[in-house]
Order: sequence, then structure tokens, then C-alpha cells
Amino acid sequence: MESAAPTVHAMRLELEELAEQLRYHEAAYRAGRAEIPDAAFDDLFDRYAELADALGVPATERLDARPGSDHTEGFAEVEHRIPMLSLEKLTPNRKDGRGEPMALDAQLALWVERRRQDLELAKDARLPLFVEPKIDGISVSLRYEAGRLVQAVTRGDGRKGDDITRQIQRARAVPDRLVDVEGSLEIRGELYWPRPAFEAHNARLKASGEEPIANPRNGTAGMIKRKELAGLEDAGLASFLYQVPWSSGVALPSTQSGVLRWLGERGAPVYAGHTAVLEDVAAVVAHCESFGRLRGTLAFDIDGMVVKVEELKHYAVLGATGHHPHWGIAYKFPPERKATVLRGVELGVGKSGKITPVALLEPVGLAGTVVSRASLHNFVEVARKDIRVGDTVLVEKAGDIIPQVVDVVRSLRPEGAEAIARPTHCPACGASVVVEEIFIHCPDPGCPAQRRERLLHFGQRRAMAIDGLGESLVDQLVETLGITRPDALFGLEVAQLSGLERMGRKSAENLVRALDAARGRGLAKVLYALAIRHVGETMSDDLAAYFGSAEALLAFARRYVEGDASAVASVAPESGSGAIEGLARKTADVIFRELDSAPVRAVFAGLAAAGVKLDALRAVRVEREGVAGKTFVLTGTLPTLKRDAAAEMIKEAGGKTAGSVSKKTDYVVAGDDAGSKLDKAKELGVAVLDEAALLALLGRA
Ligand code: IVH
Repeated sequence: MESAAPTVHAMRLELEELAEQLRYHEAAYRAGRAEIPDAAFDDLFDRYAELADALGVPATERLDARPGSDHTEGFAEVEHRIPMLSLEKLTPNRKDGRGEPMALDAQLALWVERRRQDLELAKDARLPLFVEPKIDGISVSLRYEAGRLVQAVTRGDGRKGDDITRQIQRARAVPDRLVDVEGSLEIRGELYWPRPAFEAHNARLKASGEEPIANPRNGTAGMIKRKELAGLEDAGLASFLYQVPWSSGVALPSTQSGVLRWLGERGAPVYAGHTAVLEDVAAVVAHCESFGRLRGTLAFDIDGMVVKVEELKHYAVLGATGHHPHWGIAYKFPPERKATVLRGVELGVGKSGKITPVALLEPVGLAGTVVSRASLHNFVEVARKDIRVGDTVLVEKAGDIIPQVVDVVRSLRPEGAEAIARPTHCPACGASVVVEEIFIHCPDPGCPAQRRERLLHFGQRRAMAIDGLGESLVDQLVETLGITRPDALFGLEVAQLSGLERMGRKSAENLVRALDAARGRGLAKVLYALAIRHVGETMSDDLAAYFGSAEALLAFARRYVEGDASAVASVAPESGSGAIEGLARKTADVIFRELDSAPVRAVFAGLAAAGVKLDALRAVRVEREGVAGKTFVLTGTLPTLKRDAAAEMIKEAGGKTAGSVSKKTDYVVAGDDAGSKLDKAKELGVAVLDEAALLALLGRA
């Protein structure tokens, strides 16, 4: 019997998978090749947060404590005066106390009620709400001084973003001047690429034989991070501005609708159509839905509506979390859904042997791309929905990214539609499968499909970070050079590698160098890289920190597997928490059994023989006089050092870093664009260092 509610175990697995996707997309974003819109990234985060909440994952271990960043190499980073947060969302998958799905209007009513409580409003007091479209673009923060645009910054990680002033000015996407504005103000809004201009740009690309851009949002993100400005003025980028989070010497209206009007009157582009001030929740929902119907007819993409408290005086009282303010909420439109025919099913085998069904579809255009493959989740889902080959199925993109089959249209089932059989054997190696809860696994770690996936995972940035170890190389390493285990990678030589397809001598040398660098990453990275079930990044860090070395870890695993009661009780006691936070008995059984298995032991032995560091890395602290015990505050962009690297050096020398300047601060290290922290340092008479002076103090000059 399957139960309707997911088990804690299934939730943990989903959480780990989401974490992996989030890391992947964050890395892609950082590398300047984002594959998904911000909003889709936010959706993944939302589901992650929902599961993390339900599972009680401690704040320090949560991925959502660190937002993604749009930082691009070569752009100066600027700290936001006020963080750029996300928005909380009304979501169709929210459940009430009895596990029943909650209608959006019920969720909105709850949200409004909570605002009323927080504002201590009397029963008959009014709380007007302002409703405006949620533009699917790139958020930007603009600073105007005496009406002149002086700086434009991307959202970045929410605390600091990239300086795109030159790009914005060249693209003429926001006004250079505002009329009749004295004083200083920060204005936020959304950059977007109007459809007609975007399509004209794509037509030009196609005419010159270049690849067209996938969608306007990704196109905007790419355009504003161009280092070469030529041509930006012809692209036709535009913006809608919607918020003034900070101002000085400016008299602003007291409502959100007033601010939009005020901005518009001064020459700022604001979206004035289809906004409304409403009080009744049903009217808000009706307004959102009626605007949703116009979605396809607009010149810009919207992914929902934003409902905001209209009176700005309430904002400070309502406050914010680290993720979103409490004065607004997003009303997201449901994702696009299309019908198409299921032509067949392919079986995928993951790095830990999980066998998943993938739908092969009659190609169909969906939310901007042509979809021919989609996830069928797992075989329990396939059976529950009774999906058959030949059926007409409904497809949508989860979080706007990953196509998935969500339903089947029974009435269109043709005669002879074939049921999808659960595999009894692994499609790659033929081993008999094992069933664990809702998943089917290939139990043989020697399975070629698993080996390939594990080799790929081993080299990933979050694992051993081996640059150049991509899919096509891994396939060749397996097929041509017979590499099956990660430890064997370290024995590769330039002569062997340079014989492979698309591998010149230079790339071969680079790979050998990358492998050499990977030798020193330490036990936590090695553990994560080995793709042992249930050993995600946090678990790897915890195991490495607790055991200190692979030797101690493997010795313990042997004791655990042999049933040594004290070993078992120390890490995973029957109740409560053992030495490793959050490690349940069942999970511990899997982890230590796998660590103690012959294949994993052989890989560890191979890694040791290849000179890979199998001890936990510990920061080497060599205290330096003048730094040890002192508190530093870093601000602005340093000429060569990244802020994290500078902080790390200070810590290694025994110093501390803090986020804000106070009387207890010993030094402020200031780079370009150092803002209020530098002013505060001067006010308090705190010593100010530049990068060179810091390096001298650290003895690294
Ligand atoms: S209000 C605290 N109003 O949506 C940030 N945001 O998913 C809320 N967005 O980062 C700002 N249209 O970039 C606001 N009319 C609108 C918006 C809007 C698009 C973006 C914004 C924000 C993201 C959150």
C-alpha cells in the first residue's frame, strides 16, 4: 500500500535533489549563462524552503540562507544601501492544517489578516491594497542625484550587485534625467526587452547566421552584462520602475499608487495600466485573474501580479525576513500546460542507481521552448495516473524549467495503448532492481550507467571542481581509456588524453593540472564527490569534521556495520540526536554500509595511492600581531581581492570580520564605492585601510 502523504525519507530525497538543482542553476547564473528565469529559480527555492521547514532543517544548514547571485567576472560589485529581497508567493501547492490544498483567495485572505494583526488595525479600519503586474525581467537599483542617473546596479546576491551603469546608459533603458527632482533617491524596477524589439534583434541574429536568444528575459540579462557596449543603443531595452526604497531631500507621496504617479510625472517609465487600489480579497483575486487573461497580448512578459500594502507608512512596521518584505506578496499565474502524445518511455539511471522513467513526447511548444522529453517522476506516479504509451498527456514546466507530465486525458486513449511496465532489471547492466519506498534502484555500483554519472558528479564544481571534466570527455574516458573509477582519473597522462577527440595537447595539460589541484580539496569534498547515497554536502562536511580523516571514518564504518553497539549509539542513537546532527538510524545504516563496502574502500585506497588528501582540511591559523584579536569591517570593491578571500586571510591571521562599523571596530578596509560604512568609520575615528595596507598588515605585501 502506498500512502498519500510523502514519507519523511522521500521528502529528504526531494530536498537533496532540489539542493542539487539550485546549486547547478546558481553556478550557471554566476558563469553568465543562466538557463532559467529568476522567477523559476525562486520557485525551486520556495519548494526547497517548504520542505526544509517541514523537515526542521536548521537555519545554518539551509541553502536558502545564501541567495543566488548574478555576479559576473569583471564587473565591480556595489553594496546595496537597502538589501534587494525577493517576494513571498501565494502558491497553488500550499496545504491547510488538514493537508487539503488551499485556494489562492483563502491564502490571500490569511495574508491580509496577518498584516492587519501586525499593524494592530481596528476591526473596521481600512487596509487598501495596491495591485500591479509582476514583470518578468531583471531587477535593477538606480541612484539619481539631483535628477541625474549616477549608478545602476543589478540585484546580485541581494546584498551587493554588479555595477551596470555604463551598459544601462548606453542602452537608454532608463531615463538619464528625471525632471524637477532635487536631492538623492534610489529607484528600483525591472529591466525588460519588449517583444517586438526582442524579435527584431533575433531576426537580425538569424540573418547573420547566429543562434537566436531563447527568451527576452535571458536576452536582457545577457545584454546588460555586455562588456562591449557597441550596439546596445539599438537593442531597444526598456524598464518599468516601481519603488523608491530610499531618498534624501525629496518629498515623496505617502502611497504606492502615489509614488508611481509621482515617478511617471517626472519622466520615469511606470506601468500605469491595470493597476488598482482594492480592499476586498475577492476583488484582488478577480483583478489578478482578469489581467492574467491579457498575458499573451502584452509586449512584455509577466509572471504574475504583486499585491502591496498601499500606505507606505506601514512598511517599517511590517518589516521583512532576510528573504522577503512583509508588505507585499506575489500572485503567480499558473504555468502553461499543453497536451501532446506520449510516444515512448526511456529509463534513466542516476549516479546512485535510481531508475527514473522519462517520457518521449511528440514535440510541443511550451513556455518558450520545444519540449520532446519530460519527467514522469517515478513508477508509483505512473501507475497512480495510469499513464500509457500512446496516451495524450498534459505537460507543464515545474518552476518554469523542467518539463513534466502532470496528467493524462483518458477520453483520448487509443486502442492498444500500452501500459508502462516497472523495470525488473537495470536497463544499463541488467542487474535485478531493488525497490526502496517509491524508488527503484539498480543495486550494482559497478553498473556502467552509474559509473558514468558518478564520474561526472566527481568533477562537479561543488565536488572536486575538476575543470574540463564534462560529459563528452567522461564518455571518452570510459569508452576509450576504460576509466571506471574516480581514483583512476588521477593516473591520466597528457599523452593519453591528447589522443582523444576534441582534446589538444593544451586541453590535456589543463586537465592534468586541474586534477592535480583537485588532490588537495580535503575529505569533505572527497566524500561529497563519491556520490554515496544520503551523503550530500552538509553530511560530508559533518562527517569530515567529526572523523577528521578517511582512515578514522572507515574504521568507524567497519565497527558500525559489525554492529558495535557503542559505535551505533554514538552517531545515531535510537532517540534524540547523536554526534552528527540530524543523522537518523536508517540513513546511518545506508551510509556506513556503503562506506564499508569493498568498492568504496577500493576507491579510497586508490585515492590515497594517487596522493589525494583524505584528511579534513583545517584552516591553518598563524596568528599575526596587529591582526590577532582585531575586528575588521570590509566595504566597497577591493582592486584585486574578493571580499571573501580578504575575510579568509584575516581569519587565518587570527582576526575577526564584522558586518557593521561600531566603536569596537579596529579597522575598516575600504575599496572603491565604499559607502556609508566608510562615512561611519570617519565619524568614529576608526582607522581606514586600503587593500595594499591590509596586505602589508597581513604580511602578504
Ligand atoms: S516589488 C522586495 N513590484 O519580482 C522586492 N517587484 O520575485 C519586491 N518584480 O525581485 C519588489 N515586478 O525584481 C515589485 N511590480 C513589481 C515587480 C517586482 C517584478 C520582481 C522584482 C523582485 C521579484 C521578486
